[in-house]
Amino acid sequence: MPLNRARILLIVGGGIAAYKSLDLVRRLRERGASVRAVMTSASAQFVTPLSMASLTGNQVHDDLFSLTDEAQMGHIELSRDADLIIIAPATADLLAKVAQGLANDLASTLLLATDTKVLAAPSMNLRMWLHPATQRNVAQLKTDGVAFVGPDDGEMACGEYGPGRMAEPLAIVAAALELLKAPTKLPLPAGLKRAPGPLTGHRVLVTSGPTHEPIDPVRYIANRSSGKQGHAIALAAAQAGAEVVLVSGPVSIPDPEGVQTLHVETARDMLAAVESALPADIFISTAAVADWRPAEVAASKVKKTATGSVPSFAMTENPDILASIAHRQVGRPKLVVGFAAETGNVLTYAQDKLARKACDLIVANDVSLESDVAGGVMGGSQNKVHLISSDGVETWPILDKDEVARRLVARCAELLMSPNLKAAP
Ligand code: CTP
Repeated sequence: MPLNRARILLIVGGGIAAYKSLDLVRRLRERGASVRAVMTSASAQFVTPLSMASLTGNQVHDDLFSLTDEAQMGHIELSRDADLIIIAPATADLLAKVAQGLANDLASTLLLATDTKVLAAPSMNLRMWLHPATQRNVAQLKTDGVAFVGPDDGEMACGEYGPGRMAEPLAIVAAALELLKAPTKLPLPAGLKRAPGPLTGHRVLVTSGPTHEPIDPVRYIANRSSGKQGHAIALAAAQAGAEVVLVSGPVSIPDPEGVQTLHVETARDMLAAVESALPADIFISTAAVADWRPAEVAASKVKKTATGSVPSFAMTENPDILASIAHRQVGRPKLVVGFAAETGNVLTYAQDKLARKACDLIVANDVSLESDVAGGVMGGSQNKVHLISSDGVETWPILDKDEVARRLVARCAELLMSPNLKAAP
């Protein structure tokens, strides 16, 4: 995931380097990340919650037992809603707490309850850093999957010289960027069981959101897809007991809970991610994949000319992900579900897609701005769909996208068990 769409939870420990965490917030925000901050009571001795709130543009959380906070956003949600957690400064005390699994304030509780990757930027006196207890804790945290940046060598606030200075904000940003390239949601811990459901034991692969097709380093072709329907399907499949992989184009909604989410930009990246996630029992292709992309991506920004001539871009066709998965001779998912986004002749075009893309089921929706769904389907929270299969057409009423997702997942579970399901196109 690029930094400009990342949601960062910053945990500020109580050390002199806390002032640098304010600069870290600025650096993250100027790169487009959104930042929420949690401050320990000790950190509030070094920087004020008001400065932190002003710089993050968000309320600062510091109290485990705050009724107001809990009513607005539960503390578990606070950590799970983030794409990455950064502890900066990570004090010896905070590292010891996390290594031991202590949870006696908001920061340590969040760190124990989270399923999100953690990046720690230690900062302490060099003797504290070199103390065997701290080194034991750091080794344990690394084994537990916590990433570290720094500490750097330098002159301590106390006058000594050696390792213990918090890494510079830009180094922390660089480390965050690196971590965000891979999925940052940790797998379900062993022993944490999903409630059994109709899809228990099955693997479901879902695509969602738009794709972005670059024109030059600053421009791209996109569409109005919000990812709401695809993400809701991935969540509903996980809640039905499935092991779910979601391949998402650029969206501004959070990764669904309990789902392994792979973030991609272009149609070609999406195809590669889908292929890497196979095998699957069910493939649901909800993404609004761009049909075409600029044939050439300009290496530098396309500039206006003095003569006012308008550039034209040659386009080339993108791979059809759904068709290529559904036509696979080897490793075709047992059930392949496509979507059909139409702005007219919905049923005719959708029936054509069912055959052409070798799907078992097409979910057709009218995405024209004149559709009878208030606020429109693309970007809105409701949908009106028709289910098209070789058995005919079934029309559902206008429903919330979450409800469409639950019903569709229930239907997929039934179809998967059906003896008539064909194994290959
Ligand atoms: N799809 C895909 N890869 C593409 C284009 C579409 O996987 N390059 C999938 C979509 O995820 C959806 C289905 O194909 O499940 C139909 O997408 P839609 O945009 O409705 O149809 P297109 O194939 O793009 O055809 P058209 O734009 O002509 O309607």
